[in-house]
Amino acid sequence: MKTDLRVLLTGGAGYIGSHTAVELMRAGSDVVIADNLVNSCMSVLPRIEELGGRPVTFYNIDVCDKDALDDLFTKEHIDAVIHFAGLKCVPESVKLPTLYYRNNLTSTINLLERMAEHDVRYIVFSSSATVYGESDTMPLREDMPTGACTNPYGMTKHMSEVIIRDTAKADERLGAVLLRYFNPIGADESGRIGEDPQGIPNNLLPYVAQFATGRREKLFVNGNDYPTRDGTCIRDYIHVTDLAIAHVKALDYIIGKSGCEVFNIGTGNGYSVLEVIDAFSKACGKELKYEFAPRRAGDIPTCYADPGKAERLLGWKAERDIKRMCEDTWRWQFNNPMGYEK
Ligand code: NAD
Ligand code: WQD
Repeated sequence: MKTDLRVLLTGGAGYIGSHTAVELMRAGSDVVIADNLVNSCMSVLPRIEELGGRPVTFYNIDVCDKDALDDLFTKEHIDAVIHFAGLKCVPESVKLPTLYYRNNLTSTINLLERMAEHDVRYIVFSSSATVYGESDTMPLREDMPTGACTNPYGMTKHMSEVIIRDTAKADERLGAVLLRYFNPIGADESGRIGEDPQGIPNNLLPYVAQFATGRREKLFVNGNDYPTRDGTCIRDYIHVTDLAIAHVKALDYIIGKSGCEVFNIGTGNGYSVLEVIDAFSKACGKELKYEFAPRRAGDIPTCYADPGKAERLLGWKAERDIKRMCEDTWRWQFNNPMGYEK
């Protein structure tokens, strides 16, 4: 394992970035975070330092800002970049497509250009299973078709993948890894950092966790007539700590290489909405009563990964099961019912 790297995490104050910062520091690296706090807050930073046992260098900047990023790369010696920064709310992206295309694509392009100027050669990118669109074939493999995305958010992930792959083709110094995350949930087992969405959560787990604390009044299961074992949608939930460790392994893999490689990051197991609610009920020690509601527009019945390529090439495999994912989510939510202090 390569240690003592100095890694720039764009969007590193967010949910997945904060957990990855901690795992990088635990593995012996230093972390620089660039985040404009559009979907996160400063109070996560001391907690990252506390868990990682090292200081974090923080830049409150927009990754789309050329001069600000130039200034960062001039001041800091950076060995590699993990690019988390981006907007990620699917329904918002349908309403405000240009905001999503501008933010998610300009940040990626600006980052690649500044990296080239400052001879920073390695990038790991946060992509998503959403790039596969509505595939009927499961499990999803990396060589299956991508790009027929059902919403602008997904298109920004697909387009960023294309931009990074083409840049790696054109610049033989560049080594890039595209990680296609499935459904990240859970929290660091300390319960000190976790997912803290603004407003009413769109995603299942943060909603269920807030319902379990009493912060949300009702729990709705969207759709019970899907062609699945219990009629509710099946997803490949992945513990955020396993996902964070996948980034450490991805850096270890790419440093010293060039080109672009893509990996699914999931467990390979699918759980239905009802199975997740049941696992969460057990984790929090109370029965969570739900109501069925209409299907959510754009939801596909089933989605899970073939994670075999990551196991073969990165030596990475998810270790934490659904019970652990729910227990760790609950510890975070119970200890921080209103999220981070803002
Ligand atoms: P998050 O919103 O918690 O973190 C993203 C961070 O990026 C936030 O701290 C936000 O303030 C910052 N940011 C956004 N635009 C920025 C900009 N222009 N300049 C600087 N900072 C900016 O989201 P997350 O769940 O941690 O996701 C991280 C990445 O992983 C995102 O790119 C997301 O699209 C991708 N992803 C997330 C999921 C998921 O379900 N959480 C699944 C697949 C892929
Ligand atoms: C899971 C299931 C809902 C809330 C999303 C993005 C995807 C990726 C991961 C970034 C679905 C159901 C939900 C609720 C419910 N993000 N549900 N009641 O849709 O698989 O993926 O996050 O890349 O792009 O689309 O995850 O957690 O939103 O939903 O019944 O209150 O839970 O209908 O079947 P999804 P999710």
